[in-house]
Amino acid sequence: MGNTNYMKNIPVLNGKTAIVTGTGGIGYQVAYALAGKGAAVILAGRNAAKGGEAVDKIKADFAEADVRFELLDLADSGSIEAFSGKMLSALPALDILMDIAGVMMPDALQATTDGVEMQFGVNYLGHFALTARLFPLLEKGTDPRVVTISSLANRPFVFDLADATAAHGYHASRSYALSKLACLMFALELEQRSRENGWGVSAFGAHPGLAKTQLFNRSHGFIMTLLQVIFFVLPFIRQSASNAARPALFAATSPGAKPGGFYGPWFLGVMGPPRLALVPGRARSKKKREALWALSEKLTGVTFP
Ligand SMILES: NC(=O)c1ccc[n+]([C@@H]2O[C@H](COP(=O)([O-])OP(=O)(O)OC[C@H]3O[C@@H](n4cnc5c(N)ncnc54)[C@H](OP(=O)(O)O)[C@@H]3O)[C@@H](O)[C@H]2O)c1
Repeated sequence: MGNTNYMKNIPVLNGKTAIVTGTGGIGYQVAYALAGKGAAVILAGRNAAKGGEAVDKIKADFAEADVRFELLDLADSGSIEAFSGKMLSALPALDILMDIAGVMMPDALQATTDGVEMQFGVNYLGHFALTARLFPLLEKGTDPRVVTISSLANRPFVFDLADATAAHGYHASRSYALSKLACLMFALELEQRSRENGWGVSAFGAHPGLAKTQLFNRSHGFIMTLLQVIFFVLPFIRQSASNAARPALFAATSPGAKPGGFYGPWFLGVMGPPRLALVPGRARSKKKREALWALSEKLTGVTFP
């Protein structure tokens, strides 16, 4: 049995259906907790072998768990469309959507199938398209919630939406920060639009602080090397992936979570139980959020109701 301490404040979720992106790291821990608490969970990822292993591990600890893997590559708009189509046919409703999967600072400029810079494309834009396509199911859910994962690194040095396609040159760390700022702006804007239009879907932002996952091991560049040295010398400044999943799980399941809230770890935003986190000014800017939303609709060709 894996660590289940981090699940202790999660209510029983029998009858709920959840989709979680990301078969490893925080995505895995979120799926484990939701399935362990009784939700029917679809774990979505780009690697069927890893997805199968994740499902087996969850079922090994929770024999009754209703959890299965489905293929979803967030860097491929065709895959997002196919996955969503399958879900629209298979599910009567969706109660929880966890937009978690992500990449950070790959060793060179990479692009999605639509020519969008990979970090912006996978971390943010793929989830924008996924959420929009699954929206008819969310509208039929019970207390439906969408949680989008941002980061402490959500303050790009320059706010330039041209970074979405690396139109002014490629800056790996700036693109990552833009993607994570965009995730938070999306959560806030979705919540506001839902409230104003009576869509009945609540949106939340969350971030894990600093977590021991594969994210940093797969990242490159000077900043990452420096961080690896810091993590080696001070291993305790990162929390386990399971503890890092708590803000997202709180947002997705707690009756006390505030729609439109941005949740992160309590201690310096790095570790500890969930609490409301600071929202950068740029994410509060309605004008910037509207510009991001319009760009997202243009780049994905997908719209909300
Ligand atoms: N770890 C931290 O300290 C930290 C801090 C702030 C924010 N975050 C955020 O937390 C989220 C989860 O990261 P993590 O720490 O759990 O990292 P991780 O261990 O590297 O897991 C990332 C997951 O995303 C999946 N993924 C990557 N590209 C994908 C694609 N194109 N389509 C579908 N799935 C894809 C990966 O699948 P594969 O295994 O198949 O590659 C993996 O399951 C990310 O959004 C990250 O930005 C993490």
